[in-house]
Amino acid sequence: MLTKDTGGPAMIPYCIVGGTRGTGMQIARQLVERGAPVRCIARDPVKARNLLPAGVDIRQGDVTDPASLRRAEFGECRAIFFAVDFTGGFGGRGFFKPARQIRTVTYEGLVNTVEAAREAAFTGRFMLLSGMGSELPSCTGRLLNAIKGNLQRNQRDRDAYLRNSGLDWSIGRGAVLTNGPGGQADIRITPPVHRLSMLCRVARPDFARALIVAADAPVASRKVFDVFNEPGIPPTDEALTAQLKHAGSGTPKYGC
Ligand SMILES: NC(=O)c1ccc[n+]([C@@H]2O[C@H](COP(=O)([O-])OP(=O)(O)OC[C@H]3O[C@@H](n4cnc5c(N)ncnc54)[C@H](OP(=O)(O)O)[C@@H]3O)[C@@H](O)[C@H]2O)c1
Repeated sequence: MLTKDTGGPAMIPYCIVGGTRGTGMQIARQLVERGAPVRCIARDPVKARNLLPAGVDIRQGDVTDPASLRRAEFGECRAIFFAVDFTGGFGGRGFFKPARQIRTVTYEGLVNTVEAAREAAFTGRFMLLSGMGSELPSCTGRLLNAIKGNLQRNQRDRDAYLRNSGLDWSIGRGAVLTNGPGGQADIRITPPVHRLSMLCRVARPDFARALIVAADAPVASRKVFDVFNEPGIPPTDEALTAQLKHAGSGTPKYGC
């Protein structure tokens, strides 16, 4: 990656919506470690300032408030990572909150962000963080649909909205996310063929890494792919890019 002093692509920021927690915060931190300029859209900029590395350009924005997203100036960005999930409810992750409230943030928030990007003449890649197997029946999916406001319907609807938006996009479908340290196992990127299963997991830092590589990989344009950990050695960025070449479509199967 070019240094900040050279001008050109290195000066064009990556933008993260939902970077104050979880995978979005991992994306922000890893991009800064790679020397990339980062812009973060956060509901509470003071909180974001305390959580994110120095140098991150923090703009106030709430995905349920379309006017606030104009401050993001998405047109200046090389990629947008939509890492938003509902905050609140049991465990802080939306469990047992009304389905209507969850959809306002996770689906309508995506719609508002895509429309803000289009309005700003954004020409980079829109990276959507989604969940594995959203159109495939599974016990884990049924459980989460029941306690998290029809989670998989929201995921399917926002995937479809982005795919039809006219923007360049990639959709990374994580397995069940964990707060493990990352860098401890292999990262598998495959076609989107897996059902959601508690047995199939990915550490948030590893999910973040796969998405960062995909944001700049021409082969990941307009592709949907599954991401999960398997026992093994952490792959290089080149190995992740090679896996993205084969992501696209495939036959559904159970688990990892
Ligand atoms: N959890 C899983 O097992 C799983 C599995 C596969 C895929 N995914 C997907 O992966 C993504 C990341 O999940 P995660 O669990 O790592 O994220 P997370 O920890 O739940 O973080 C969610 C982020 O969204 C932000 N946010 C919430 N409401 C917002 C709003 N109205 N406007 C702007 N930002 C808002 C939060 O900011 P505040 O600090 O302001 O609340 C926070 O930064 C999600 O899209 C999720 O659907 C999750």
